Amino acid sequence: MGKKKKRAEREAESELLSTETINEQNDLHIANGDSKKIKKKKTKEVKEESVLKEKPTVSVALAGSIIDNTQSLELATRLAGQIARASTIFRIDEVVVFDNIGSSVDCSDPTMEDGSHDDESGAAFLFRILKYMETPQYLRKSLFPMHNNLRYVGSLPPLDAPHHLRKHEWAPYREGVTLKDRNLTSAGTLVDVGLSKYSCCYHDSFNFFCQELPYSHCMLRSIFHIASTSQPVAVDQVIAPGIRVTVSMGAERNLDAGIPHQVVSSSTPMEDAGMYWGYKVRYAPNISSVFKNCPYKGGYDHLIGTSEHGLVMKSSDLTLPSFRHLLIAFGGLAGLEECIEEDNNLKGKSAKEVFDLYLNTCPHQGSRTIRTEEAILISLQYLQEPVNSVLQKI
Ligand SMILES: C[S@@+](CC[C@H](N)C(=O)[O-])C[C@H]1O[C@@H](n2cnc3c(N)ncnc32)[C@H](O)[C@@H]1O
Repeated sequence: MGKKKKRAEREAESELLSTETINEQNDLHIANGDSKKIKKKKTKEVKEESVLKEKPTVSVALAGSIIDNTQSLELATRLAGQIARASTIFRIDEVVVFDNIGSSVDCSDPTMEDGSHDDESGAAFLFRILKYMETPQYLRKSLFPMHNNLRYVGSLPPLDAPHHLRKHEWAPYREGVTLKDRNLTSAGTLVDVGLSKYSCCYHDSFNFFCQELPYSHCMLRSIFHIASTSQPVAVDQVIAPGIRVTVSMGAERNLDAGIPHQVVSSSTPMEDAGMYWGYKVRYAPNISSVFKNCPYKGGYDHLIGTSEHGLVMKSSDLTLPSFRHLLIAFGGLAGLEECIEEDNNLKGKSAKEVFDLYLNTCPHQGSRTIRTEEAILISLQYLQEPVNSVLQKI
């Protein structure tokens, strides 16, 4: 089973568990008589509360074919890095990379694990780099096997997202990977959350100073080595090794192995603390699967397509309806219209019929074409105010 699938299942399980527990607690207060009615009312209230707690999301979908036109692995990597940065800057929750495969093939991970193949499709390449860039640096070695197409990722500017924490930083949540080693003091699991053992005793300047030292100063170097050794934390839940998890760390710094922490849903930092916690990456074999396989309950409720053939209007005049899950789509070299034409599931439909809004976000362009990576930055900036005014009302 893929890691992504396992993680989704675990998150679904923990969400189910918490809803069930709340329902059980409500049931305890019901003595007799009108119990069924009260039960129904309480369950409805809990459901409404959880829908309210669930923050609205903004997804971006883009054609993976943009990678196929790049002239080298280095340039392809740089292009993928630009998409990752734009998605982070605009706090995008989900990036969907779609292919142009006419018929639906059911595949959630298009990448080839075997590092010897570097001729994967543009969509698979983009999927891999976007996922890699979103993963905190300290987890990449454990979660990504070596692959030739990752050769130039080191040269990309980092995302510097709130969940990409440094080894001495304490935060209410940290991303981690579950370890094989068992916790000796309790039944749970040990998780490497990228915290260093004696992180409180040194500072960034010490870190820099030590790296500058010649190897002959081995005394200080070995102190630095101890300081940078990872200190795992214990969590209550029993989870198989090698799984990426979000750990609730608590407000106070405490790495005592006897005090277990909690694995929470990856949406908790956003829902409970309003912290941007990175984007999820999804693969779709064609544009219709972008909509059909939406991971959010109820699907996307507002679809925006972007094109030079779209509607021209000022951003300040645009009022979006109150959405729960917004999707903004970008095409490849020949635009979204070609992606729709090539998709057997959308036969005979026009882009204006597929999208609720088909928008030109850069009228009066001086260049004959705006590239997708440029259009993403332009359009997300154009849509920032209209989107934020919906988010603020919810
Ligand atoms: C190379 S362009 C494709 C050109 C195509 N004729 C079109 O439909 O815009 C790649 C993508 O950039 C985006 N794009 C280009 N120009 C745009 C504009 N003026 N407004 C909004 N999006 C644009 C669209 O998502 C488009 O699919």
